[in-house]
Amino acid sequence: MELSLIAGTASLELAQHVATDIAIDLTNRRVERFPDGELQVELVDSVRGRDVFIIQATSPPPDQHLVELLLLADACRRAGAGRTTAVIPYFGYARQDRRARGREAIAARLAADLIQASGIEQIVAVDVHTPAIEALTSIPVAHLSAVQSLIESARPLCGETSVIVAPDLGAAHLAERFADALGVPMAVVHKTRISGAEVRVSRVSGEVRGRSPVIVDDMISTGGTIEAAYRAVLDAGSSTELIVAATHGLFAGQAVERLRSLPVKHVIVTDSVKSPAETGLPVQVISLRQLLSEAIQRLHASRSLVGLIDYK
Ligand code: R5P
Repeated sequence: MELSLIAGTASLELAQHVATDIAIDLTNRRVERFPDGELQVELVDSVRGRDVFIIQATSPPPDQHLVELLLLADACRRAGAGRTTAVIPYFGYARQDRRARGREAIAARLAADLIQASGIEQIVAVDVHTPAIEALTSIPVAHLSAVQSLIESARPLCGETSVIVAPDLGAAHLAERFADALGVPMAVVHKTRISGAEVRVSRVSGEVRGRSPVIVDDMISTGGTIEAAYRAVLDAGSSTELIVAATHGLFAGQAVERLRSLPVKHVIVTDSVKSPAETGLPVQVISLRQLLSEAIQRLHASRSLVGLIDYK
């Protein structure tokens, strides 16, 4: 089977880099919108009998990008693709992996069901909010991680007086990995989410007094979590300069303004999601191109993903 690479509109630039690394051309496709708002996709090049990888983050607007991924997969199936893999650098809806209150939908499960129903036979994803994503679907999931790259980028910025801060309990394990690798202590902020854009902090566990906070998380969405965590560690006596590291820099809503109001020295994110052009923030973007190119080539050649998959 020959390899084909299709770029969804959410991940065009990243897909172009991956195509360059693999030394193939992107498969031509058209993605258009009918006047009534319906998306319509068409494959211009043939994919018959081919091993197709569709790169599409289900980033904001997630409904639009998810439907586009589903339509591209359906087009591949109907055009006789040999196998279709979804490469999803950022998996939207993954935060809705349980019912936090009554009468809520479990969107993560539904998104996984829809992906499977569209004909996708395997998923490659990066630092999904819920590592349980594998348990939400019966198709294979290669869960890759950018955490080691984030740690290496944070290393030269951290010193003896740094403290790694988990902005909520969900990020405690991630913070522990940073702290162990960088040889600095960690602290955990206890957060409660009030609404999509509002969070409340009750306390901080761990010693932050006189230390420079490095807040680590899987994503920066509205920045509310980072801001609340920063204010909490500051109240607990931390020094003011702030470093933030997260795999997915969504920068939704008021995120840029929020972060700009803080003494942020450095923000490290990946290109899983297209960052806003001008944030005025000291943002360092690490590319996922090498990780994704390697994973795609190994899957295509039926080679092991050992070393790329992060089971921690
Ligand atoms: C939540 O558990 C996630 O790990 C992030 O902390 C959260 O999604 C970030 O969202 P926001 O930036 O809107 O607070």
